[in-house]
Amino acid sequence: MNFYIETVGCQMNTLDSELAAAELINAGWTQVESRKDAQLAIFNTCSVREHAEEKIYSALGRLKHWKTQKPGSLIVVMGCMAQKDKELIFRRAPCVDVVVGPGQIDQLVALVERAAATNNPQIAVSLDRFQRRDDPKAMKESFRQYDPIRMAQTRPRVFQAMTRIMFGCNKFCSYCVVPSVRGPEQSRAPKDILREIRTLADQGAKEIVLLGQTVNSYRYVEGEKVTRLVDLLVEIDKIPEVKRVRFVSAYPTDMTDDLLQAVRDLRTSTPYLHVPAQHGANSMLQRMRRHYTVEQYKDLVERIYATIPGASITSDFIVGFSGETEEEFQQTVDLVRFARFKNSYIFKYSERPGNEASRKFPDDIPEEVKKRRNNELLAVQNQVSYQGNQQFLGKTVEILVEGPSKREMKSVAQEETLYEEGQVADQTVDTMGALAHVPNITTSLEEMTASAARVSGASTQAQTVQMTGRTPCDRIVVFNGSRDMAGSFRRIKISHVGPMFLAGDLTEE
Ligand code: SAH
Ligand code: SF4
Ligand code: F3S
Repeated sequence: MNFYIETVGCQMNTLDSELAAAELINAGWTQVESRKDAQLAIFNTCSVREHAEEKIYSALGRLKHWKTQKPGSLIVVMGCMAQKDKELIFRRAPCVDVVVGPGQIDQLVALVERAAATNNPQIAVSLDRFQRRDDPKAMKESFRQYDPIRMAQTRPRVFQAMTRIMFGCNKFCSYCVVPSVRGPEQSRAPKDILREIRTLADQGAKEIVLLGQTVNSYRYVEGEKVTRLVDLLVEIDKIPEVKRVRFVSAYPTDMTDDLLQAVRDLRTSTPYLHVPAQHGANSMLQRMRRHYTVEQYKDLVERIYATIPGASITSDFIVGFSGETEEEFQQTVDLVRFARFKNSYIFKYSERPGNEASRKFPDDIPEEVKKRRNNELLAVQNQVSYQGNQQFLGKTVEILVEGPSKREMKSVAQEETLYEEGQVADQTVDTMGALAHVPNITTSLEEMTASAARVSGASTQAQTVQMTGRTPCDRIVVFNGSRDMAGSFRRIKISHVGPMFLAGDLTEE
């Protein structure tokens, strides 16, 4: 029997989809690339913005026909919306057979089998974070999921792998839904993390991405011994097969000097830090319940650049949060210029039921204003990104080659994003627009693609095709190479740059 998974949301969800696929493959199922070849259709969902949820519900509505054409087929909704909406999903989308929360992936196979055998809907989700204050331990445990099955075939690229080092979030930013759908912050035991990374390395992983909603708040206490992210990085550094390590997302106040020094000094650490600022005005940061001021954030930016040579910093921003004035918005623009972010993910505020902002701060910024600010900030960020990339002209960088660029060229912006398209669709369009506004760069890339296509013809491993890879600071590099270079480290001399990429030629330099 075949299954197909569609994933939206952040990297947590991308990883969960891999883990769910591994559970199913382990039970004898086969993963396929298209829903029309599948008997089991899985949606891994995101609740961070309303738009992402509405898209899922309308897709589920359309799936009714798929199901009637395929007797015996099943539909599963997993992920953050499963945890948030629970039984409501069966009411809004009666074609759904199974609802499974992010903390119950290990029960997926059993639920699917039970749904098939009984023809009755099945559900497994964690306890409600706020209604179970009477039994916090049970609530916490219900969000845990340990020792997942890891399989190389579930990853798009064998040489790149993600590992979760912590579950949940305790920061409670007023606008956010994540603490309620992903549960309380819980750090995984270092020995479990290291064992999993050992497995991934044995499977061929050269680059490891450590995941957590506030990944640098990682803290595991065992008797007297406290393990922090720095200690984990030191241990991972001892695994010879692992060549690069990154971690996302970092919370600004937990970015200690020893962590920055470790990022500078360790063999495997890369000078790339995703530290979302969310806003550039103190009044807004306060209402957002981010526990820092813009001055502290700027100080962090300066510490990062002073400590780590060649560091690149990326951020998330929300525009149009409750009460945001034009002046406050301009302070966000100023922060983007000040911090010289490599890139930023920009979101229009979306009110989420049940959180602090929905109770206290009205969603009072009109959609057109949100949209305009979104576009304005993106345009500034694109300028800043373009300027930042120009420093690479004429320089040689080392990249980990990821693969042929065809798909990437269709959607450079998507490749560049931490969050899957469902969530940043409007941003993707804008970014692509911005890319098109840099005519000389686009032209030169088109020329490159055309010349690569001319030499390629029928595809054998050694023929020249346009390939992409990434620098240690996470910049995308486009070059003419061959498919068999995927997974290897190469040196590229940069001759063109755009806001979203560097381009150049293989070199021995
Ligand atoms: N844990 C990560 C982010 C997780 S959510 C962190 O704190 O860095 C990813 C991004 O979505 C957030 O950084 C924020 O910019 C955005 N986001 C979260 N809630 C949102 C909302 N209600 N409306 C719009 N954007 C939101
Ligand atoms: Fe959401 Fe804030 Fe936690 Fe990030 S740190 S997941 S934005 S509550
Ligand atoms: Fe990620 Fe969306 Fe859930 S951003 S944690 S998939 S709500």
